[in-house]
Amino acid sequence: MNHPTKDAFATEVSQWSDIPGWFHWREGQQEAVEVFEEGSTFVEVGSYLGRSLCSLADVVRTSGRDFTVIGVDTCRGSGEEGLASEDAHGPAVEYGGGTFAGLLHRNVIACGFADDVHVFISSSPKAADFFVDGSLAWVHLDARHDYDSVAADIEAWLPKVSSGGWLSGDDYDERIWPGVVAAVRDTLPEAQGWLTAQWRWLKP
Ligand SMILES: C[S@@+](CC[C@H](N)C(=O)[O-])C[C@H]1O[C@@H](n2cnc3c(N)ncnc32)[C@H](O)[C@@H]1O
Repeated sequence: MNHPTKDAFATEVSQWSDIPGWFHWREGQQEAVEVFEEGSTFVEVGSYLGRSLCSLADVVRTSGRDFTVIGVDTCRGSGEEGLASEDAHGPAVEYGGGTFAGLLHRNVIACGFADDVHVFISSSPKAADFFVDGSLAWVHLDARHDYDSVAADIEAWLPKVSSGGWLSGDDYDERIWPGVVAAVRDTLPEAQGWLTAQWRWLKP
């Protein structure tokens, strides 16, 4: 994704694909709504402006099945990270005066999911403490991408996933995000590559 300008943040959205972000693996969300029992809960850790979160809500609505969709984000961005030490979320944080919570919530409402998507403004892994062990069918990790953050996220969220559930994550790319790949390898050796640049672990 190219860096959005202020105009891009101000532009109104009406569907998930209008929202700036990196999300591209919708088939994984479609698999989830087919596989899991109705009434299950899905948590996305790292929602940014809601592109992947609103896509998930849209996939759930289209399925006609009942799932709870929760997005967790500090709404303060990841700061500088990656090979180029880029602050990819910085412009959105600045646009919102130190938080993009307003933009994220605006996008959820504008896409028609005000009552279907629950936005939890909190840091991961602290947010995991609010969930009962074994209560979540699917947790998808897409917050900070350095080794320690990914390892901490896995450690915090793994107990929250139910038996038969998924713990997965984004940016499973050795060249661009070596910390993600190393943290997954060291903490969850049975995890496998999934779709394009995703990883997934199926909890026994
Ligand atoms: C790569 S973006 C998420 C992109 C989003 N999933 C999408 O595809 O549109 C990473 C997000 O993680 C959030 N984040 C970074 N560290 C976090 C933490 N410790 N807890 C919660 N969210 C965090 C950032 O604020 C940012 O919005």
